[in-house]
Amino acid sequence: TKRVAIFVSGGGSNMRALVADMVGDHAARPVVVVSNNAGAGGIAWAEAQGIATEVVDHRPYGEDRAAFEAALDAALARHAPDIICLAGFMRVLTAGFVSPWAGRMLNIHPSLLPQYRGLHTHRRAIEAGDATHGCTVHLVTPELDDGPVLGQATVPILPEDTADTLSARVLEQEHRLYPAVLRRFAAGNTQRLDL
Ligand code: GAR
Repeated sequence: TKRVAIFVSGGGSNMRALVADMVGDHAARPVVVVSNNAGAGGIAWAEAQGIATEVVDHRPYGEDRAAFEAALDAALARHAPDIICLAGFMRVLTAGFVSPWAGRMLNIHPSLLPQYRGLHTHRRAIEAGDATHGCTVHLVTPELDDGPVLGQATVPILPEDTADTLSARVLEQEHRLYPAVLRRFAAGNTQRLDL
């Protein structure tokens, strides 16, 4: 069985979708939820489920990303994961942390990459007048929101959409796409999945 670490910074709705799917014949199980934010809703939920949690607050490290990442590494090592799933983890990870996990770290991003890397993706897609938007699960490489695409889901942008209504429509698809991609990935299938 593959051991999965899930990294969250906020509410963790994607984490919940991943955990809910990792049952039965799934090739993986969640072993730890990691956050940079002790107040993350995802941490409270994981604790209530009896899943191990690790909080590594980034703030005491200031600009020293290497020291923050060393602390993350030490926390992770206690759980010996095989796969890391970033699920709304809002700290940029440097090559020093990412490179050893090449091919074993996934991320979900709320846009159809390579469009709209970074933040405020929904607003940017609306402002650009795009007809469609969506989400991407990809393997993490040291470049931000880059790396081989494992799957995408597309939604329409409607004339009356705001960033909030569009983000809710995309999030629904995130909750379908990420579990579907992880299920295949954990079983050794890295073929691209489009929903
Ligand atoms: C999700 O929309 C995810 O795609 C996005 O943050 C949200 C987290 O929601 N991730 C990023 O923007 C990564 N840069 P959740 O905590 O409810 O899963």
